[in-house]
Amino acid sequence: THVVSEACIRCKYTDCVEVCPVDCFHEGANFLTIDPDECIDCAVCIPECPVNAIFAEEDLPKDQRHMLALNAELVQLGWPVISRRKDALPDAEDWKDKAGKLAELAR
Ligand code: F3S
Repeated sequence: THVVSEACIRCKYTDCVEVCPVDCFHEGANFLTIDPDECIDCAVCIPECPVNAIFAEEDLPKDQRHMLALNAELVQLGWPVISRRKDALPDAEDWKDKAGKLAELAR
């Protein structure tokens, strides 16, 4: 599967969802997650993200490995599918270069 990493938190640019052929993105308040049971590993979303938040599972940086299980867990919360781009969060620009945003994730 592909995985959304912490870089997405409090940004949520949503460019990724437009190109997904299987609509595997689910939307939370300040993060998107990928359904590992739907993702077909096409990788077209990777270059779309302005903050490079999306990785193939095998390419996840070491400090983002926890996001693999977390993406699957968040899908289970019943977040709705998102397939159309929308405006990023209003303060996305302020958060895009911050690291260690996990504590900011809204469920
Ligand atoms: Fe998040 Fe990047 Fe998509 S910030 S919503 S993974 S375009």
